[in-house]
Amino acid sequence: MRLDKYLADMNAGTRSTLRREIRKGLVTVDGKTVKDPACPVGDGQEVRLNGRKIVWRAYEYYLLNKPQGVISATEDPRQETVLHLLPEIRRTDLFPVGRLDKDTTGLLLITNDGELAHRLLSPKKHVDKRYRALIDGEVTEEMTAAFRAGLMLDGEFTALPAELTAGTVHPDGTAEAEVVICEGRFHQVKRMFAAVGRNVLALTRLAMGPLSLPPELPEGAFRELTQEELAALRTLRGTEEQEEPADPA
Ligand code: URA
Repeated sequence: MRLDKYLADMNAGTRSTLRREIRKGLVTVDGKTVKDPACPVGDGQEVRLNGRKIVWRAYEYYLLNKPQGVISATEDPRQETVLHLLPEIRRTDLFPVGRLDKDTTGLLLITNDGELAHRLLSPKKHVDKRYRALIDGEVTEEMTAAFRAGLMLDGEFTALPAELTAGTVHPDGTAEAEVVICEGRFHQVKRMFAAVGRNVLALTRLAMGPLSLPPELPEGAFRELTQEELAALRTLRGTEEQEEPADPA
């Protein structure tokens, strides 16, 4: 990788300021001043900017509380994407793990770890996702039973059994509900409620696998995953590897 990209990916500055700093002789690689921004650097080399060691991190993991009005994509010609909410994180290979609708809020993992993303999203893995919904009427026992049995959606497919829990009923007739699903089809939660005659007025993802939305994290804010959260994700990986051993061929 080019030296200027290495430094920019590690959030040491913008590509243009870094190029200037490199040309000024402020950057060393393995103790030697390097003035060429295109100089290739790789794993195991020691890069310093103004004497400060810039350690390469292969993977990064951020937990975002997605607000309404931004799309779960890496780029879009017209609309704000979730990556615009992490302006100080400059590496270019980050992406959101799965999609939340534009009007859905809540937990979204942003990473550049493609293997982890695959494991969290793979339909075979059945990773739980918990949502809080505001709906336009009460949750009945029949609805809970229908969710548990597996709902037919739009005549297209039968959703896997899901857990529906009734919450507060508001004076205006709207009601809170929590739902746990273990797949992630397009508009799945909204379609499940529609199948039992309810509209979703607001939707928030509260958890995905071992990750929970931190109550203190405001909408639009993000933070790095903690060591505990990373360890929990690795456990998830390990368990699945044992359950589905690689093809010996
Ligand atoms: N289900 C939906 O309907 N929308 C989302 O954003 C996520 C799950």
